Amino acid sequence: MRLCHLDELRDGAARGFDPRRTGQDTLLVVRRGDRLHGYADACPHQGTPMAWRKDAYLDAAGERIVCAAHGAQFEIDSGLCTLGPCLGALLKPVPLAVRENGEVHIAIDAPAGNLA
Ligand code: FES
Repeated sequence: MRLCHLDELRDGAARGFDPRRTGQDTLLVVRRGDRLHGYADACPHQGTPMAWRKDAYLDAAGERIVCAAHGAQFEIDSGLCTLGPCLGALLKPVPLAVRENGEVHIAIDAPAGNLA
């Protein structure tokens, strides 16, 4: 399932996607150089979407994913919660693949439930 072109993901920033057209973003992608980190946009604390406005997933320094509801913080590389009410919990990873033409896709073996 195509998400976008790599050029549409700003280095050091996050972006939300609604690949199943549910009306709200259900997947977030953080780009760090050539590495992409994809997670379901659902906080392990209460299962709610994490951005307080479109694409606002990161802290001011761009070093952590932050849930707007109660401030939980997550490592970008691992999705591990390092601060907040769901300490030690993990964001649900969504495997991504970048094709030779630079198109970013959800990897074909991603379980369908990852995005709900
Ligand atoms: S719902 Fe994310 S910290 Fe509470």
